[in-house]
Formats: sequence, C-alpha cells, structure tokens
Amino acid sequence: MSDSQQKLIEQAAAWVLESRSTVCLTGAGISTESGIPDFRSKGGIWDRFDPKDFEIRRWLASEDIQRRYWEVAQDGYDLVRNATPSKGHFALAQLSLHGYLKLLVTQNTDGLHQKAGHDPDKIVELHGTSHVCVCVGCGSKLLRSEVHARVQGGEVIPKCEDCGCLLKPDAVFFGEGLSPEKLSRAVEASKEAGVFLVAGSSLAVRPAGGLPERARRAGARLIIVNEGPTRFDARADMRIQGKTGDVLPALVDVVLT
Ligand code: APR
Repeated sequence: MSDSQQKLIEQAAAWVLESRSTVCLTGAGISTESGIPDFRSKGGIWDRFDPKDFEIRRWLASEDIQRRYWEVAQDGYDLVRNATPSKGHFALAQLSLHGYLKLLVTQNTDGLHQKAGHDPDKIVELHGTSHVCVCVGCGSKLLRSEVHARVQGGEVIPKCEDCGCLLKPDAVFFGEGLSPEKLSRAVEASKEAGVFLVAGSSLAVRPAGGLPERARRAGARLIIVNEGPTRFDARADMRIQGKTGDVLPALVDVVLT
C-alpha cells in the first residue's frame, strides 16, 4: 500500500465512521481475485463472447445460441461454484457484521459475498444469481447444480420438466427487467446513504451504474475503489486506484481499530 493510498484509505475510513449509513455497490472486479474474469477488462468475458448472444429476445429465439450458451456455461459455472471469496469479499462481510455497511448491492451473480459470510439479508443481487435456473414459461425454479448435472449428462438445451419450456439461469440478461423490489431497495438505500462505496465496477451498465449518481445527488460522499477508470471518476469525492483485495481490507482495518 503506497503512502498516498494509505492517506486516502484513512480519509475514507473517517467518512465511513461518521456516516449515517454506508452502501456499497460491487461489480465483477471484486471477483477477479477469485479467478472469475470480469466483463470489460482486457481478456474479459466480452472479449470472448458476443454480448448480443445474452440479449434475452435473441437468446429465446435461437436454439443455436441456447446450445452454444449451455456448452460454454458448463465451464463458467464450474469456475463460479468452485471459487473462493477474495479478501475484498471477506472485508465487506466484516464491515457489515460490525454494523458499518447498511446494504451491499452487487451486480455479480456468483454468490461469493454470501460465501464470505456476508448476511444475505443485507445483500441485493441486482442482476440475479447463477446458482438458480428459472423456467421462462411457468417461472418454476431449480438449483443450477441440478441443471448442470443434466447438461453434463447429455441434455443439450435443458427444458422445464413441469411445462416443457426453456430453462435459463436466474441472472438478468440484457433486455430483461430487473426485480422492481430489489431495484427500489437499492435506490432507497442509496438515497439515504452518507457514503456510497463502489468496488470493482466500471459502472458501464444502468440502472446499477446510475446508483452512485443518485446517492451523490442525495448528499452522499462517493468513494470509488477500482483498478480501471469508471464513468463516475470525475464526480467521485475520492477515487482509490488499486485492487479491491488490497484496498478493502486496509479500509476495514482502519474502520475497525
Ligand atoms: N480490483 C479492483 N478493480 C478491478 C479488479 C480488482 N481486483 N479486477 C478488475 N477490476 C476492475 C476493472 O478495471 C473494471 O473497471 O473492475 C471493473 C469491472 O468492470 P466490468 O468488467 O464492466 O464489470 P461490471 O462493472 O460488474 O459490469 C456490470 O455489465 O455486462 C454486464 O451484467 C454484466 O453485471 C455486469 C455489468
């Protein structure tokens, strides 16, 4: 940790300590240290797959896209379910456990915040979860591990056993609506926050990426912890350049001592 980073961390910790409430928004960058690639860094997911194939109408209309999805998703899901939380995940869980983090809003669907012991009642998975599948017809849900085993067993495009419609991961595809309840919970907490902390996100995708602006407009201090640039760096009260796995534990250490 450089001296300048340490000074920023101490100031950020002071803001968290005096804040009426702190809300944190995480993105894929907090899980790269768990071995899960992010989307927009070099070599990230959108360097390897076409985001248009994750547009819900295209996906539903094309057996070829569905087949390709389930082929590559097997490795992707193995990576996610075997991943261990990063030091950043554990640090945020500690901050929450000690009452300094009112709500964690994550864009990630990997479940690593929960795996790090973060109270699930204090997490909003805005983009859903990779650990559950849902039927696009009747809405019934089943564990991803069960569908994973069926695809491993040769089912090329898994279908719902109740109604015969397509199954898809219970993660939000492009063009799909977010859960109104989850979004309003995230928006309300952001508007009441004294500190809004972004960790590991480019803030490229709305509405999640718009939460920092809502919080700032409502009076929050905006702290961004990220390796790469984000859309809101110029409007942040503080930007700490670095790995979430280094910065977040250092921040939590100062808050908790
Ligand atoms: N520490 C800090 N920052 C990191 C780290 C790390 N260890 N690893 C990567 N980053 C940064 C990258 O520099 C990048 O700016 O995290 C950011 C991740 O940005 P994206 O790849 O755009 O991921 P995210 O912001 O979560 O994307 C939002 O876009 O494609 C959709 O639904 C998808 O939820 C996703 C949404």
